[in-house]
Amino acid sequence: MNNFTFWNPVRVHFGEGQIEKLKQEIPPGKKIMMLYGGGSIKNNGVYQQVVKALEGYSVVEFSGIEPNPHYETLMNGVEMARSEGVEYLLAVGGGSVIDGTKFVSVAIPFKGNDPWTILSEQAPTEEAIPFGTVLTLPATGSEMNMASVVTKAATKEKRGFMRPELYPQFSILDPTTTYSLPKTQIANGVVDAFVHTTEQYLTRPADAPLQDRFAESLLTTLIQEGPKALALPEDYAVRSNIMWCSTMALNGVIGAGVPQDWATHMIGHEITAEFGLAHGTTLAIVLPSTLRQMKSEKQAKLLQFAERVWNISEGTDSEKIDEAIDKTRGFFEAMGIKTKMSQYDIKPEAIDTMVERLEQKGFVALGENQSITLAKSRAIYEGCL
Ligand code: NZQ
Ligand code: ZN
Repeated sequence: MNNFTFWNPVRVHFGEGQIEKLKQEIPPGKKIMMLYGGGSIKNNGVYQQVVKALEGYSVVEFSGIEPNPHYETLMNGVEMARSEGVEYLLAVGGGSVIDGTKFVSVAIPFKGNDPWTILSEQAPTEEAIPFGTVLTLPATGSEMNMASVVTKAATKEKRGFMRPELYPQFSILDPTTTYSLPKTQIANGVVDAFVHTTEQYLTRPADAPLQDRFAESLLTTLIQEGPKALALPEDYAVRSNIMWCSTMALNGVIGAGVPQDWATHMIGHEITAEFGLAHGTTLAIVLPSTLRQMKSEKQAKLLQFAERVWNISEGTDSEKIDEAIDKTRGFFEAMGIKTKMSQYDIKPEAIDTMVERLEQKGFVALGENQSITLAKSRAIYEGCL
């Protein structure tokens, strides 16, 4: 196992009715900005619960944060927060609202000329406005991690950044808030959590059996519970388990001390940037192709995945791995997600543009061994057609 420092300062309040804990979490007298998306929280009662819990505080609202949040939109939030003298941010929504709020929290006090450089050049941020979250979509793990992904719509650049200032102070996870999710969003969330796990597990052996077993338990739980969430939309136990899996998949626990891949994410981000596909959908398309392309480098862990996660015991090692990759694709499809670019009308000609964008960002040596060159990324896209 590699050396690591494990640190996660986020307080999580999990369970039905926990939104009322907002009062306990946000210091009295703080001027709050509540940030949310396109209005799902007004239709499912979450907005009303939050407003009630914030009675007595001075609150301004910033809405309209879109999926794959746009830098341009978020900068309007930054201006509003500055002019209103906001002291605390509250994100209410999915990964996009939380990631957007993270960016706003460091952009408000940013002293540099151009806040986009926080993403494009990883410009340092010394301060952040404190924030908490109310999660309504289990998927990204953003509620308990220090990452954020923002898109500049003008140039179709989707970029991420990570730093300790981006840990929320607290996150409220009430599984009943997810009952209103459309099936496609549930499916995208389950796939996202699944692929977060494989990015930290399907690499190379690292003498880390505990992290391996953690990862395998997340994967098998998602395989077991995911289809139930589609069939039984208001089953509290199912929604609870999916919510906690997706948080645990990307809060640092399973990745501590082990090699990490993330190529599927980087390659998938370009599909979102170019064609607007949901994040989880891009991962369902890309992961099977990445695993096939990297089969020999990842052989030992792929075999472990085949045997322990998919219970495959027959055949040669190579056959077992192929079957595990097929079963993984089958799982994504059983969740209702099409796994080929052609099914989204993405033509082979688009691959050139996406490979160029990877090159512009310097993503020319991806993966746990930095061995995914541009040529390999191209082959992965070709395997997605
Ligand atoms: O905007 P509203 O009206 O709220 O609707 C949203 C949105 O249209 C809707 N929704 C959310 N909760 C709902 C609901 N609809 C009904 N009932 C509810 N309870 O769902 C739609 C999608 O929401 P979004 O937040 O975009 O989805 P997700 O949570 O999957 O977030 C995706 C973003 O997170 C980034 C992705 O790249 C993408 O930009 N990621 C962030 C990561 C991180 N911070 O660690 C890691 C991930 O790998 C990922 O890259
Ligand atoms: Zn993801």
